[in-house]
Amino acid sequence: MRAAVIQRAGEPFRIEDLHLDEPRAGEVLVRILASGVCHSDLHVRDGEWPRPGPMVAGHEGAGVVAALGPGVDEVLAGRTVALSWLAPCLRCVACRHGRSWACTGSRALEHRLPDGGTRVHRPDGTPVLPYCGVGTLGEATVVPVEAAVALPDGIAAEVAALIGCCVATGVGAVTNTARVAPGASVVVIGLGGVGLSAVMGAVLASAARVVAVDRVAAKLDLAVELGATAAVLATDRPPTDAAIRAASGDGPDVVLEAIGLPATIEQAIELLPPGGTAVLVGMTPFGVRASFEPFPFVDGGRSILGSNYGSTIASVDFPRLAELHLAGRLPVDRLVDRRIGLDELEAAFDRLRRGEGARSVVVFDGDAGSARPG
Ligand code: APR
Ligand code: ZN
Repeated sequence: MRAAVIQRAGEPFRIEDLHLDEPRAGEVLVRILASGVCHSDLHVRDGEWPRPGPMVAGHEGAGVVAALGPGVDEVLAGRTVALSWLAPCLRCVACRHGRSWACTGSRALEHRLPDGGTRVHRPDGTPVLPYCGVGTLGEATVVPVEAAVALPDGIAAEVAALIGCCVATGVGAVTNTARVAPGASVVVIGLGGVGLSAVMGAVLASAARVVAVDRVAAKLDLAVELGATAAVLATDRPPTDAAIRAASGDGPDVVLEAIGLPATIEQAIELLPPGGTAVLVGMTPFGVRASFEPFPFVDGGRSILGSNYGSTIASVDFPRLAELHLAGRLPVDRLVDRRIGLDELEAAFDRLRRGEGARSVVVFDGDAGSARPG
């Protein structure tokens, strides 16, 4: 099978022909049909998150279950699945307390399957790890059943792929992490796949005001089409903050940061009125710090929440997000900016760096014979 491989941090991904073993007990083989190109892949591409190589890249993918390992329920055969990049171990404290997004026992954190291995190899036998245990930027992958969440019939693969990362992360940050109340005022800073999903989540949660902020004007237009009530072009700080405050009414109840920059993280905190909550969704490079002044923060009873994977329980939330899409209430398809092939990844990363377009999605020909285990 063809796949994008990370050899060394900071180098372009290489397209290689790899071997994929049959699924073992508790595993399924998924023929990948679509994989979104997420900013997290760019963090890896640019070496901001050091990763061991060689590794199959990608974590925002969906496809069809093409083979079952021993003991796997046959109802999964042929189903469209969205892949979760944090297959929960179901044994750690976080999992036992119903917070599987904070799982600490998953081998996916080490880019391995639950038995510590990988089913992917180079023709010379070199093991190739799957990024986050899923490695979706390839024609097929073998994952633990906990990572393959079956979605309702009729869901398009590219929609399913985005549900697996940016939609779960952005919508979940609003509905699960922040629990935005109807009538609330919400600000979203950064309108990539994650931030635009947060805008959709705020609309879904019946926020009265949804203020969308980005430095790229075209992103503001898309946010307004998705239901944002106001859009602010990010320029210099004081005028931008004044425009955001004016558009948010009495001040935002919730400000979501969906970029991962110290400057916008600090901005999200400084925009809070007393009692307001900043939700940090964007991921920074390792080691980066941000600061704020504690006195007014504490005095005003403000809050900061970190939101990983939108506080999502994949097995519960992915099907719900798919149902909302099918009911016309979550226009995930609007995030698909262009469909590309594996060999166009570098151009997609350049567009991400410029903030251009919502999501590039790598699409695979589902009939590719090379997707069969070999
Ligand atoms: N002010 C306002 N907007 C900005 C700024 C800035 N200083 N810098 C970048 N942006 C905008 C870009 O124009 C773009 O629209 O932020 C958006 C970021 O979107 P993407 O690069 O598409 O990122 P996305 O995939 O949505 O992920 C966002 O969440 O999960 C994490 O690792 C991920 O840190 C990343 C973040
Ligand atoms: Zn992602």
